[in-house]
Amino acid sequence: MMRNTRATQLLFELSRPGAQAVRLPKCDVPEKPLAELLPAGALQSQPPALPELSEPDVVRHFMNLSTYNMSVDTHFYPLGSCTMKYNPKRNERLASMPGMVDLHPYQPEATLQGLLELLYRSQEMLAEIAGLPAVSLQPAAGAHGELTALLTAAAYFRDQDQRRTTVLIPDGAHGTNPASAIMAGFDVKPVKSTAEGLIDVEDLKAKITPQTAVFMVTNPNTLGLFEQRIGEITRRVHDVGGLVYLDGANMNAILGVTRPGDFGADLMHYNPHKTFSGPHGGGGPGAGPIAVTEKLAPYLPVPIVVQQGDRYRLDYNRPKSIGRVRAFFGNVGVLVRMYCYLRTHGPDGLRQVAENAVLNANYLLAKVKPFLPVPHGDCCMHEFVASPAKLKAEKGITAMDLAKRLLDYGFHAPTVYFPLIVKEAMMIEPTETESKTTLDAYAETLFRITEEPAGLLHEAPHTTPVSRPDEVLAARKPVLRWMPERRDEG
Ligand SMILES: Cc1ncc(COP(=O)(O)O)c(C=O)c1O
Repeated sequence: MMRNTRATQLLFELSRPGAQAVRLPKCDVPEKPLAELLPAGALQSQPPALPELSEPDVVRHFMNLSTYNMSVDTHFYPLGSCTMKYNPKRNERLASMPGMVDLHPYQPEATLQGLLELLYRSQEMLAEIAGLPAVSLQPAAGAHGELTALLTAAAYFRDQDQRRTTVLIPDGAHGTNPASAIMAGFDVKPVKSTAEGLIDVEDLKAKITPQTAVFMVTNPNTLGLFEQRIGEITRRVHDVGGLVYLDGANMNAILGVTRPGDFGADLMHYNPHKTFSGPHGGGGPGAGPIAVTEKLAPYLPVPIVVQQGDRYRLDYNRPKSIGRVRAFFGNVGVLVRMYCYLRTHGPDGLRQVAENAVLNANYLLAKVKPFLPVPHGDCCMHEFVASPAKLKAEKGITAMDLAKRLLDYGFHAPTVYFPLIVKEAMMIEPTETESKTTLDAYAETLFRITEEPAGLLHEAPHTTPVSRPDEVLAARKPVLRWMPERRDEG
């Protein structure tokens, strides 16, 4: 096995004194010394220590770097909870048309009618899919949608003169749920899961009080299971006057099959980058539209796109609104891609997306389960969580080892160590856009890896330019500037 070391050197290290990409012709106008053109304080005594390289050096360096990334366009990417489905290229093309990209948010509304109609129709479609009548397209990510919806709920309770302090969250929830609740000013109480991986309704009952503001639920949950008692759960929260928030990260499993509003949700967010083919970026730009019930609509952020006759306009005159949460109309480029996706599929197509996502996940589950236990059930929705806990006890092979070794075989790793309630969790979400051939190859590879020597797996990946960086340090203390003295720190 060969570690891929092409271009792991930085441009500064590749620098060769005197190398040049461009040679400019001799100046044909009279030259003046710099000292006459710039104040003394702006002049440096030494030229900056920039790398010196030829054009092919630079092009090869960046082209090589670009091949190091794994993406849905290059690899199978079953990153559980993230729904890394293939994004049709036509959505990109439509969103890049001059009529879209040349618009400016400060244009008068009369000249933005096409875009406003697109946004209005998007609101309508999201409302229909949610079974909730009012939509805001403003939030910039799922987590931002959570925060915006919780601020909307807080404004509602304030307006009703109700002092409610607590948000209840299942222990399998995504970390953004408690983070959003705390940011919105609530206290958080965790609710336990049962051995089957569903919400422990007895624990929930014990924790619901008149102070309960919101119960945040992910359905299907982060184990890929549909909360079968969701009707009873939402009724119990409503009985004390609380609201139910649906974390819509897993909407891909239920599109057109059931609607959050129909099973009792009062608020929810969408993750268009998971469900509606928005690009996944390193934290953005994204979108996290929210949908709410009629009684919560007055508190949504401004502006909302409204229709008046055959015209569309931005409505800022909403006195109970929580105000703005994002500049202009939200991340419009992502919303345009979402609109194209929704219109391309239509109601039947969306339902088929969900059905195929569930079918693919169950096919892969059936292939993986014989050699890698899946502690919570033989049947899943759009994803499942496998656990090499036994492999760890017997051979010392961890979820991280398996995940890292998959990279050597050209597969992206699944999500690992989430949800926290499963030991050595490996959360696998194939999505509907993968073929049977790919799923078979993935399952066979995973099996082959579980048979490999532990020592080999502990050192994996072996073929990537960097093997196992310190992921926490890399995220918390990134070294973004050329500092030769720190080169060895990685
Ligand atoms: C279950 C769940 N909820 C919420 C989020 C947050 O969404 P975003 O990444 O768009 O902020 C995620 C993201 O992965 C998720 O998986």
